[in-house]
Amino acid sequence: MKLIAEIAPSILSFPYFQLEDSVKQLQVAKVDWIHLDIMDGQFVPPITFGASLSKELGMIPGPAPLEAHLMTRTPESHFDEFIAAGCKRIIFHTEATDHAHRLCQSLHQKGVEAGVAINPATPVEAIIPHLEITDLVLIMTVNPGWGGQDLIDSCLKKVELIRKLAPEMPIQVDGGIDDQSIRRAYDAGANIFVAGSFLTRTPTIAEGVQRLRSACTS
Ligand code: DX5
Ligand code: ZN
Repeated sequence: MKLIAEIAPSILSFPYFQLEDSVKQLQVAKVDWIHLDIMDGQFVPPITFGASLSKELGMIPGPAPLEAHLMTRTPESHFDEFIAAGCKRIIFHTEATDHAHRLCQSLHQKGVEAGVAINPATPVEAIIPHLEITDLVLIMTVNPGWGGQDLIDSCLKKVELIRKLAPEMPIQVDGGIDDQSIRRAYDAGANIFVAGSFLTRTPTIAEGVQRLRSACTS
C-alpha cells in the first residue's frame, strides 16, 4: 500500500524580499506543508533565519501548516520558539543529539509532531531505534546546508529499508527533488517531498507543484 504523496516546498531558494508573495502562492497551490530550513552556522555552515520570520510567514492565511527543519546543534534549545511561531512539526537531526528518543517525547508533550532526520553520511541504523516514537523520518538526499544540489541516489536505499521496516511511517526526502527525481524517491517508498530550487525554475509555483504531484500519479 502506497501512502498519499505530500508536497512540502522549502522556501530556502525563493528571494527573501518576496517571501510573503511566495508563501501566498504556495498556499493557493494547496501544498501540504511549508518547510522552513533553519541553519545555525554550526551544524551546517550557513545561517538562514529564525523564529520571528517564521511566525510572520505563518500568519499568511492558508491550509498548509509550517514545519521547521532544524539543522542546528542543541535542537531542543529551539523547540519552544518555533512552536510559539506556529510550527506544527519539528524535525531535528540524529547527528545533533545523543537523545533523539527523548526529544521526540518532549515534542509530543509540547503538542507537536516530531521528525527525525539523517544526513547522507549517517547509516540508516541510526533511525531504527526511533521508529517506535517518531512521527516522520527525514532521509536527506543531499548534504544539508544548500539548495540546488543533485539528489544522491544511494540515499534512496535507506528509504527502501525504512519502508520495509515501517510500512506506515511517513518518510520525507529533502534535497534535489524535481519532477524527474521525485518519481525515483516515490518508487523507493518516500511519501513526503521537500522541493526548493525546482519551484524557482518552473513558470509558476503552482505549475511546479502540479508537476511534482503528477509525477507521482502518472
Ligand atoms: C538543504 C535543505 C533543503 C533544500 C532543498 O539543507 O534542507 O530543504 O532547501 O533544496 P533543493 O530542493 O533545491 O535541493
Ligand atoms: Zn530541509
